[in-house]
This record gives sequence, structure tokens and C-alpha cells, in this order.
Amino acid sequence: MGKNKIRRFAENATFPHVVQPTFEELRAGGLALKGRWNGGFFKREAPLVLELGCGGGEYTVGLAQLQPEKNYIGVDIKGARIWRGAKTAQELGLANVGFLRTHVDHILECFGPGEVSEIWLTFSDPQIGKARKRLTSPLFLARYRQILRPGGLVHLKTDSPLLYEYTLEQIAEHKLPVHEQSGNVYADLVRRVPPQEQAVLNIRTRYEEMWLAEGRTIHYVRFGM
Ligand SMILES: C[S@@+](CC[C@H](N)C(=O)[O-])C[C@H]1O[C@@H](n2cnc3c(N)ncnc32)[C@H](O)[C@@H]1O
Repeated sequence: MGKNKIRRFAENATFPHVVQPTFEELRAGGLALKGRWNGGFFKREAPLVLELGCGGGEYTVGLAQLQPEKNYIGVDIKGARIWRGAKTAQELGLANVGFLRTHVDHILECFGPGEVSEIWLTFSDPQIGKARKRLTSPLFLARYRQILRPGGLVHLKTDSPLLYEYTLEQIAEHKLPVHEQSGNVYADLVRRVPPQEQAVLNIRTRYEEMWLAEGRTIHYVRFGM
């Protein structure tokens, strides 16, 4: 492991806003914060928003700045990426941001029933040929239904036509309400939504910057559960 990674992992352990559960902890009844993130971690009641596969946390941090009235948690398995988001949140003095280093398969061990208001899926791996592993597969939708409050929302922003079309199919099959949808966010959607929503859609992640530089089109859908 490189020196930089070792340094980042060590700093993660010192950050009060980074939670890194052990496998044993998750297996023995789940995370102690499960069902009590607002009171136990953020020390305030507010809608809880997750970004799954947050990478460097650009959406988590960007949304936390735009919507300070909500609490945000970026979830990713990679410690060095979590570090990037946690460091940025610290430098910006954001009290409404946390990061959880865990596998997305463990969300039911980490969040209680109805505890979450919104879930963001940003440039998730399209899992070509492995539909079951996609973050909008029936397996994941069933998990989201458990942790989301009634009327909770899922946002998908992606460069992948495969993941976008697959998600639209799942939405139709599960008869879920679509609140917003666009096959081309920047040519279409940002031109027809109010300014606050434009700002949200204009947040760019590291992966999004790469795909935009390659000329890819960005898709977005927001649906209820
Ligand atoms: C393609 S990257 C996108 C990162 C970020 N959202 C962005 O747009 O820049 C996918 C991210 O999901 C994370 N990831 C992949 N599988 C995961 C899993 N099973 N549990 C948690 N994170 C995962 C990876 O570590 C990576 O940071």
C-alpha cells in the first residue's frame, strides 16, 4: 500500500465524522448508530440523505452546502475515497456531513426502518452482465423500501444508458412513481427546472467530469418508493 493511502487511512480513524464499522459489529445486531443517526451522530433532527458509492463525496458535500437543512451520509467501501470527502467536509466546516465506510450490501445493518429520506446513486457501476448487483436491482429496491420513510426518494444520475434503461424498466415493473426524468440532463433537464434544482443537478462528481470530458451524455431519474 502506498504511503498516501496509509496516511489517509490513519487520518480516517481520527475523524469524528467517519464511521468504519467492523464486520463483527455488523453481524452482531448491526451498527450502534442504526436507527439513531440523527440523535446519535448529527445531534439534530433533520431529513437523512444517503449517497451510495459516493467516491470522493462530491455529491454528499455539494448537497450539504446547498441544503444545510438536511443531514448527509456518503457511503463507500474505499477508505482513500472516503478520506477525500471527509477532508473536504472538514475544510468547509460542514456539520451536516458524515461518511460511512462499508459495503452497500450492509445498508440494512446500518440504517433503521424508515430512517432515510432520500438516496442518491451517482455514477454507480452499471455491472454489465450482472444485473442482480446493480444498485437499482429488485434486491436493492427492496432494501431501499425498508430504510426509506414513506414517500422517500431515490435519485439516479448516470452516464450509462444500460443502467438508466434498466432502472426505468425496474421502476415500471414495480409501479413506482417517477418525479423527474431525463435522458440528457444538461441539454434538457437543467433548462426546465427551478434554479435550486439546477444547482443540485449541476454538482459534478469526479467520474462525471471524466465522462463529460469524453463527450458522454448524462441521464437522471428521480422516483419514489
Ligand atoms: C464508478 S465509482 C463512482 C464514484 C462517485 N459516485 C463519482 O461519481 O465520482 C463507484 C464507487 O462505488 C464504490 N463501490 C463499488 N462497489 C461498492 C460496494 N459494494 N460498496 C460500497 N461502495 C462500492 C466504489 O468504491 C466507487 O467509489
